[in-house]
Amino acid sequence: MDERPIGVFDSGVGGLTVAREILRQMPEEAIVYFGDTARVPYGSKSRETVTRFSLQDVRFLLTKNVKAVVVACNTASANSLPAMQAAFQLPIFGVVEPGAKAGAKATKNGKVGVIATSSTIQSGAYQQALRREPEVKEVYAKACPLFVPLAEEGWTEDEVADLTARRYLRELQDRGVDTLVMGCTHYPLLRRCIGEVMGPKVTLIDPARETILRVKEALSSANALRQSDQPPQHHFYVSDRTAMFETICRKAIGQVYEAEEIAIEQY
Ligand code: DGL
Repeated sequence: MDERPIGVFDSGVGGLTVAREILRQMPEEAIVYFGDTARVPYGSKSRETVTRFSLQDVRFLLTKNVKAVVVACNTASANSLPAMQAAFQLPIFGVVEPGAKAGAKATKNGKVGVIATSSTIQSGAYQQALRREPEVKEVYAKACPLFVPLAEEGWTEDEVADLTARRYLRELQDRGVDTLVMGCTHYPLLRRCIGEVMGPKVTLIDPARETILRVKEALSSANALRQSDQPPQHHFYVSDRTAMFETICRKAIGQVYEAEEIAIEQY
């Protein structure tokens, strides 16, 4: 057993949808969360910049003595996972491969859509991972960059979000996809409007579920799950203080945690 916390990072609030899944599937684990709110979005930046930021994010989490890192950011997973895994000794889990697997498991007609940041779509990581799955016949990818600022601003139950979703998603509806992978951890915060536009026949996939299943399996087989009578203590850090973080934290994980500000450029 290993009492140390699990590190989780994202460019901002999106990774809270992954933290939520850890709380659901592994309620005994402690979480150290870092949201890079000073440098969000990652999804419009180059691979080099995303990799530099991701390495700093992991270095920061290591100062908190984490036993593993969940890259709760598809952009960082798609562009920088091998660089992170090569640079550090501890287990580092990405979200793209599990998201693609979950999409493949869900499809009946073999037509799978994936929506993500521009940088994730440009990397081709999801398209390649989905095409490796025998159930998947056709892949349709669409960058939806405006979803991230909408989620960061808390405009998820809003007509602006509905209009944006309609404009981005029409093309995927026309293709007849029966499964849509939400390939950005911010997007499950907009699940209602994405679901309304795609309609009830399209299954929405949040890669967090499959990702955390794998994290649990891996920690369990390494005998590294936390087993303590004491309830876990979670800690949240951001690189720029925003009132929205706490608001979205309450919405995403049903509890308010105060986030401490840190200077990420130092790491
Ligand atoms: N939430 C992140 C992702 O899953 C990044 C969004 C962004 O910063 O652009 O891709």
